[in-house]
Amino acid sequence: MARTVWFLTGNSGKLEEATNHLEPLGYEVKQLIVEKGTIIEPQADTLEEVAQSKISQALAHLPGGEDSNDLLMVEDAGLFVDALNGFPGVISAYALKTIGCNGMLKLLEHLKSEDTVQSAQLRSAEFQAVAALWNNGEILYGNGRCPGWIALASSEGEGFGFDPIFTPYDLDALGEPLQPGNYGVQSTHGKTFGAIPMHEKQVYSHRTRALNDLLRQLPSA
Ligand code: IMP
Repeated sequence: MARTVWFLTGNSGKLEEATNHLEPLGYEVKQLIVEKGTIIEPQADTLEEVAQSKISQALAHLPGGEDSNDLLMVEDAGLFVDALNGFPGVISAYALKTIGCNGMLKLLEHLKSEDTVQSAQLRSAEFQAVAALWNNGEILYGNGRCPGWIALASSEGEGFGFDPIFTPYDLDALGEPLQPGNYGVQSTHGKTFGAIPMHEKQVYSHRTRALNDLLRQLPSA
């Protein structure tokens, strides 16, 4: 019988993505829903610490209990801006709610150049994601990153969070990110995540990368 992975998330898109990755390995993914306010986002410096705290808190809510042979997964992400020493990082959701994309553009207003490549260097940032999986008392962590830069202006279109102001660096043929100024086989041609379709964003996704990193460490069920 397939082992169940309980995924603590309120986001159906994330659930679907995790299912697509884990089902072929023989796991069944189910959404772990807890009452709002049950899991407290800790004050922590790293995404790993946030994820670990959420796992510890959520364990008490595993439907079959800790001895059920089920697994528990959480995932956390954030935007880390180099010129701001990594801010907003672990508090990205809060920063989005408070200063938002426009506030972030204001914080970086002094960092721009006529030369796009130079702007892309001055305003470098990256999305990072951590996927953490609790398996019988042991926690595995997968890390994913998506380097790029904070655009000079916000774009219209789809996307959530800081998507409208984040442009990823190009990727080489192996899917690895390049330094600014280098053209890769995969490029948004300067467009932000907010200005490209979801399926194109997936190719760069820090989340997918974190999940893949986790799965590399995971035995088949
Ligand atoms: P979460 O841990 O996945 O909920 O991400 C925390 C916060 O980071 C979100 O509320 C967004 O502000 C930001 N963030 C994370 N991933 C992305 C992304 O792919 N695009 C835009 N913003 C993101």
